[in-house]
Amino acid sequence: MDRTLVIVKPDGVERRLTGEIIARLERKGLSIAAAELRTISREVAEAHYGEHADKPFFGELVDFITRSPAMVMVIEGPQDTYKVVRNLMGATNPKDAAPGTIRGDLAIDMGENLIHGSDSPESAEQEISLWFPGLA
Ligand code: RTP
Ligand code: MG
Repeated sequence: MDRTLVIVKPDGVERRLTGEIIARLERKGLSIAAAELRTISREVAEAHYGEHADKPFFGELVDFITRSPAMVMVIEGPQDTYKVVRNLMGATNPKDAAPGTIRGDLAIDMGENLIHGSDSPESAEQEISLWFPGLA
């Protein structure tokens, strides 16, 4: 089994798409190993998106992800589960995301793209330990 970190971002919770998004992951055959609705602190948001700290959009990204509760989850499935989730998510910019993907079907704005998923096995491991340090 393999695990990855997924966040239904504040826009997804505000738009009441949490169930829709989780249903798409479950219908694919993935399982929820942990989940909690959290209002993300700036400190954790800055650590989570640390790779983007020097980008011009970093401030806006942290403002966005901390603005209201987000559903933070560990998602479980077969080897390379991170990749399965990334394919279900679609391209970062919803304008480029294919129909049938979460971003392609449900979002239109780059800054409000509904879902985060770890982008490699290494980032999955690092992000799971950041968000769920006690998880076995
Ligand atoms: P995420 O980390 O949230 O799953 O998204 P991602 O891997 O598809 O994209 P990433 O490159 O990690 O960027 C993180 C988030 O920053 C915003 N972004 N804005 N204005 C821009 O050029 C720009 N680039 C990225 C997006 O909201 C993206 O989800
Ligand atoms: Mg990313």
